[in-house]
Amino acid sequence: TDRTFTMLKPDAVEKGHIGAILDKINASGFRIVALKLTHMTTQDAKAFYEVHSERPFYGELVEYMTRGPIVAAILEKENAVDDFRTLIGATNPADAAEGTIRKLYAASIGENAVHGSDSDENAAIESAFHFAGREMF
Ligand code: GTP
Ligand code: MG
Repeated sequence: TDRTFTMLKPDAVEKGHIGAILDKINASGFRIVALKLTHMTTQDAKAFYEVHSERPFYGELVEYMTRGPIVAAILEKENAVDDFRTLIGATNPADAAEGTIRKLYAASIGENAVHGSDSDENAAIESAFHFAGREMF
């Protein structure tokens, strides 16, 4: 079955939304393969978002992603990458569809509650960034 990688970002953790978001993920048919609370260092966040290093918001993004703990998870479902991006909604919560995680829990494009991998290849890279093989079930 296909897998994707997600992070519940610092704003979602700060606001106490871990349980509600994981419940919605499970209710939408995803199986949790790996799960942990962790805190990205500046070096971690810079590397994870290297693809955005030339964007004007890169510094702000690194500050945001390192300001508190996150929940990292690997999720399994048929068509996991695309279905999860549908479940989380548009990058900017103002554009996100009703009922999506970002519509429900995100404040702004800069603090958008949740990450979802954008390809099978990136899902594998991002999963390996955060988890050892023995942490995947
Ligand atoms: P991810 O699932 O987190 O990768 O989001 P995405 O794929 O919907 O968006 P993208 O990969 O283009 O951007 C990565 C992250 O950078 C976003 O989720 C936001 O947290 C942040 N970001 C994107 N655009 C902006 C912006 O214009 N301003 C700020 N402050 N942050 C942004
Ligand atoms: Mg992205």
